[in-house]
Amino acid sequence: MAFIESIRSILDEAIADCFAGSYLETDYQIVPCRDKKFGDYQTNLAFLIANREKTSPRGIAGPIVKAIPENDVIETIDVAGAGFINIRLKNTALVEEVERILADQRCGVPPVMRPRKIVVDYSSPNLAKDLHVGTMRSTVIGDSIARTLEFLGHEVLRQNHYGDWGTNFGVLVAMIKQEYGPDPDKSREASLEEVEELYTRGSKLKATDPGFAGKAGEEVNNLQSGNPASIEIWQILMEKTLRSCHELYAILNVSLDASHDCPESSYKNDLPLIIEELSGKKMLVENNNAKCVYLDGYHNVDGDPLPVIVQKSDGGYNYSTTDLAMVRYRVNHLGAEEIIIVTDRGQQLHFQMIEDLTRKAGWLTDAVQLRHLGYGVILKEVDEGGQTKKVRFKTSKGGTVKIRELFDEGRLRSRNLTLERNPDVDKSELNDIAEKLTIAALKYSDLKQRPESDYIFNWDQMLANQGNTGIYIMYCHVRILSLFNKSGIETHALLETPSIIISHKLERELLLQVISFPDLFTNYEEELTSHNICSYLYELSSLYSQFWKDCPILTAGEDVRHSRLILSLAVSQRLKLGLSLLGIDVVARM
Ligand code: ARG
Repeated sequence: MAFIESIRSILDEAIADCFAGSYLETDYQIVPCRDKKFGDYQTNLAFLIANREKTSPRGIAGPIVKAIPENDVIETIDVAGAGFINIRLKNTALVEEVERILADQRCGVPPVMRPRKIVVDYSSPNLAKDLHVGTMRSTVIGDSIARTLEFLGHEVLRQNHYGDWGTNFGVLVAMIKQEYGPDPDKSREASLEEVEELYTRGSKLKATDPGFAGKAGEEVNNLQSGNPASIEIWQILMEKTLRSCHELYAILNVSLDASHDCPESSYKNDLPLIIEELSGKKMLVENNNAKCVYLDGYHNVDGDPLPVIVQKSDGGYNYSTTDLAMVRYRVNHLGAEEIIIVTDRGQQLHFQMIEDLTRKAGWLTDAVQLRHLGYGVILKEVDEGGQTKKVRFKTSKGGTVKIRELFDEGRLRSRNLTLERNPDVDKSELNDIAEKLTIAALKYSDLKQRPESDYIFNWDQMLANQGNTGIYIMYCHVRILSLFNKSGIETHALLETPSIIISHKLERELLLQVISFPDLFTNYEEELTSHNICSYLYELSSLYSQFWKDCPILTAGEDVRHSRLILSLAVSQRLKLGLSLLGIDVVARM
């Protein structure tokens, strides 16, 4: 931020000079030049002003460039193409900036001026079964958002709004009663696998057997109304699945623990109040004995008004009712200034309606933003009659893929890859490395694209140590660590005399990439995507490996060696910090 901001204030001075103080509010961009041949940064400001002056961009750019005041930052500034302005920084400015931020743990990223209370609702699995890949996206994306907002200085309130109360549990309890009879000890003894098998079977039964579907529906109501026998079974089931869920968070290095649990059932006492308040606000309409709210602008496929059903005809509450209580609680009790909810993109309409309804009811105030971040699906490529097709990522039998199984497979693959590279590594280090590589592979391949996009799951690509992968970036970090081990130089000794020399074009490019780390966060709060962090880390690693090839470090003359070590240190700091924001830990070797 620092650098772009100083360029901006110089440009602003020139604009003020050329246009007698007008156009200072112009929202122009300053972005890094793709090809450093032309400059370090480029701005579109002449286009924006020309548009309003009804003249050509070049006609605007020329005088602005001439009016640039004396300064310590810009070396050259010129007009290119239709009116772009290219800027090259002074080497002294670059070097000074890197030296200035070298000792900064935050790599030059200032904390936000106005920290806010932000709820991040993520992972939030349906716990009638063990976690599966669908939930993995919410978990990985949400965790990175929570970590990054926290790093920026916000107060992040993580909320795990897991499903423990709805239809799924109705199915499960009904199935348990049917298979195990009334004795709760039977369910106590059942393994998680057995519970899952019952759930899968129960879900199918519900679709084909109206009698069973009725029982499952009854069980939802039993739970919601506090029937002791149903509640006892439910508690036993919950303990099993929740324990497994938290175990997985720990394995996956996800920053969610029991203190963030805020399941659907925790809102149970609020649900009748929600209905009462809606009734008091005259927002309820009865439709076939169900209580509904109609909002403007929502229709079903037939063009009929689409209601939010807040209480079913049998008295039971819905996913929607709980989400109304959820918004009310987060605003009133948690004091949220923003609520971010990460789920599959299929829930977009649901959250749009929840937002409209809670605003209308006054629970969501104007000052609070509600954002639903919908992500795409995970696909796999299959061969069908010689043609590659993309299909939903499922097991070979067509079932959902469990995170635990996925993790085990990744760990096996990572172990083998690590052993190939380091035959002498001992067992406990091997396990640690294999786990970290697996987590890096899983998280990075998810985070490197925009959340709304689908992506193809492919272990070979995810674990490759070339290309845009988490492994490649970790490898670059390992390289720098081993460089320091070899040189015997302590990093704090380097920091005491941070003098940098630019003697090669790649050093300059690396410096530019190093100082631009803070720019990654300029729009983070609006965009909430980690893919820019990934692209940055990939570019930094690629530049560094070029530099590694072309610029000798330990064998260079003393001053250059010193400078190149400093540069390497600056790169490793950013790699480590950037990866940590993605929830990825580095390793000492791999
Ligand atoms: N349990 C839901 C699912 O698996 C996600 C819950 C998201 N949070 C919420 N407040 N509705 O799709």
